[in-house]
Order: sequence, then structure tokens, then C-alpha cells
Amino acid sequence: MKNSFGNSITLTLFGESHGTSIGAVIDGLSPGISVDYEAISRYLSLRRPDGETSTGRVEKDEFVIESGVFNGYTTGTPICIRIPNQNTQSGDYTEIKNKARPGHADYTAYCKYHGFEDCRGGGHFSGRLTAAIVAAGGILIPALEKKHILIGSHILSLGGISDRNFENYGEDIKGLNNEKFPVFDKTAGEQMKDEIKKAKAEGDSIGGILQTAIFNLPAGVGEPWFDSLEGLISHAVFSVGGVKGIEFGTGFGLAKMKGSEANDKFRIDEKGKIHTLTNHSGGINGGISNGMPVVFNCVIKPTSSVYKVQQTVDFIKGQNCDIEIKGRHDPCILPRARVVIDSLTALVICDLLAGRYGTDYLKP
Ligand SMILES: Cc1cc2nc3c(=O)[nH]c(=O)nc-3n(C[C@H](O)[C@H](O)[C@H](O)COP(=O)(O)O)c2cc1C
Repeated sequence: MKNSFGNSITLTLFGESHGTSIGAVIDGLSPGISVDYEAISRYLSLRRPDGETSTGRVEKDEFVIESGVFNGYTTGTPICIRIPNQNTQSGDYTEIKNKARPGHADYTAYCKYHGFEDCRGGGHFSGRLTAAIVAAGGILIPALEKKHILIGSHILSLGGISDRNFENYGEDIKGLNNEKFPVFDKTAGEQMKDEIKKAKAEGDSIGGILQTAIFNLPAGVGEPWFDSLEGLISHAVFSVGGVKGIEFGTGFGLAKMKGSEANDKFRIDEKGKIHTLTNHSGGINGGISNGMPVVFNCVIKPTSSVYKVQQTVDFIKGQNCDIEIKGRHDPCILPRARVVIDSLTALVICDLLAGRYGTDYLKP
């Protein structure tokens, strides 16, 4: 569906990095879900650049809800959220207009849109569009929280420095969602920031791994074969520019284990609740949640727009050339992308719950 995702609840994205605005349309949400403008602003602020480890393009994200919300609640009709672009410097892109930034979507966009694409600031492929995803998340994440389902991400590793894994999921997620730089280990966090600043000072960029958890998701959610829980989360997460890999639970580490080690053994606790002793499968069996926390890691590449001279092509002239990028770019995408991943995860979960139990499921 190109720019739309979801079945029962859909999210449609529109806009370009340097156009008048970007935005999202959310359709299929039940009426009566509370919409808190401050919560949306808070999520947007988690994605906003901090000036230190991110791009110099700071947008105020003064969003407007054009439709679908009345007296602070969803009406059940499409919600259109529009976010004006206010801080563009399109001149930065004039000189490199026909030169493909290595690792970015300039060349592939040209192949697909035949030169009619808006190339300013990466156009429709810009990370700027993820603000609209986060604004939607500002409605969806709190709606799930009212059902006690919590979602949060932290930077698991960056520049060879590692954070600890999730331990106490409820507390960990609540803590993360108040942190601009999402890590549990503050010392590791400072070292990661130093690595980002070092890359930035060298005109370079750095990538890493984000780890996301969904806590309190009931067992039984997921629609195999093709709309398995892993499949839908992966589909949504791979829509985010810069994401290049995903693993659930122990993921690629399972390749080194025996079945007897990898199997998550089932037990019943004193309250009669079924759980597993380990969580190598990341809370999913057969594409369906098993009631354990759903845990996945995604690798985000180093930002492609770096300030070192690079070899490329001028795809209009059909010539080899060099490129020197001058615009404003994130030296690392991870600190800003985490709330984008959370928002898309919330969309997948809302959609699956609405599909299985009806769209009114999310109504408090
Ligand atoms: C929050 C966020 C911010 C981003 N910032 C930049 C940036 O400043 N410069 C850049 O070249 N790419 C940035 N990206 C990544 C590009 O959008 C992405 O690399 C591009 O669309 C190509 O997609 P691909 O890397 O998945 O192939 C950002 C992505 C996200 C999610």
C-alpha cells in the first residue's frame, strides 16, 4: 500500500522534507480515545534534535490536528495531523542536485520517479517524515498504556559501547520514556555520546543497535502466516530509513545454540499464569505472542550523509564525480529513531488488537 500501513487501523504518511508540511492520517481508531496534545508534544520532543548529538535542523513541530478529534477525544473518523516545515535550507541541495549521495535514496528515487521527485533535503525519503509517525504514536502509545501495554526502546550498543538489557520491564520502559538519550547505564550513555561527537567532529557518522520491548502484550496476538507478529513488526520497522536488520529475542545468536538451550521452557506461576523460564524467542511462537515480553533489536546504519569527500556519479550527466555534502545531518540516527520505532510498534499492536477484538477494543 505504498505510503499506508495497517489493516484495521491504518497510518498514511504524506509530505517532503522541504515542502510546506508533512503529516499522517490515522484511520480506523475507535471513537472515545483520549487525545492529549501535551503527550503528542512530549513524544515529538523525544525525537527532536538535541543540538549535541544530532542535526542542526531543529523544527518546532507545531502540529495541527485537522480532523478526527473533538473535545479531546477521537471521533472515529480519519485523524489528520499536519506538521509544518519551518526550518528548511533548500540551497544546501542545489549543488548536489543530480549527484547521488552514497547510501541515500537520491539515485533510487530518480530511477523510480524519473526526475520529478522533490530532491530537497531527501524529499519524501527524509527522516523528517518520521515526525508524523511520532505524532501518531503520541495517540497510539498512550491508548495502549491504558490497556497496560507498554512499549519502549533503548540504545543497546553504539561505537562498541553496550547498555544492559531490559530487566524490570515495567519500570525500565517508564524510565526510558522520560529520557532524551535512551540508555539504562548512564556511564555507557555518556561514552556513547562521546563516540557520536567524535564521529561528528571528523565529519563522519556512526550507527548502532536499538532494543525494543513490548510489555504486557496478551498471549494470542498475531495472524500467521503472512501477518505474523514478527512479520508485521519487521515490515513496519523496515519502513524507517536507515534500519538494515532486525532480530527477535536471541535472534542470530540462536545459530550458536542447541535446541535444548534455545527452547524457552514453560512453567505456571503461583497465580496460574503461564510463562517461560527464558525468552530466547522474544515472546513470539508461531508468529503469535506467548505472553512474555516481545523483544527485538534493530540495527541502524551510520547516517549516509557524511561531510567527507566521496566518490559518486552525476546521474543526469552520466559521469563519475566526487560529492561534498554541505547540508545539516544527524551524525547518528539512533537517539531520535527510538521513538519512531516505538510509534510504529504501537501501530502494529493497535492494528492487530483491533483486527482480532474489534476496533472498539482500544476504547477505555
Ligand atoms: C529520525 C531519522 C533521522 C535521519 N536523519 C538523517 C540525516 O540527517 N541525514 C541522512 O542522510 N539520513 C538521515 N536519516 C536516514 C535516511 O532517511 C535514510 O538513510 C534514507 O532514507 C535511505 O534509506 P535506507 O538507509 O534505509 O536505504 C534519518 C532517519 C531517521 C529515522
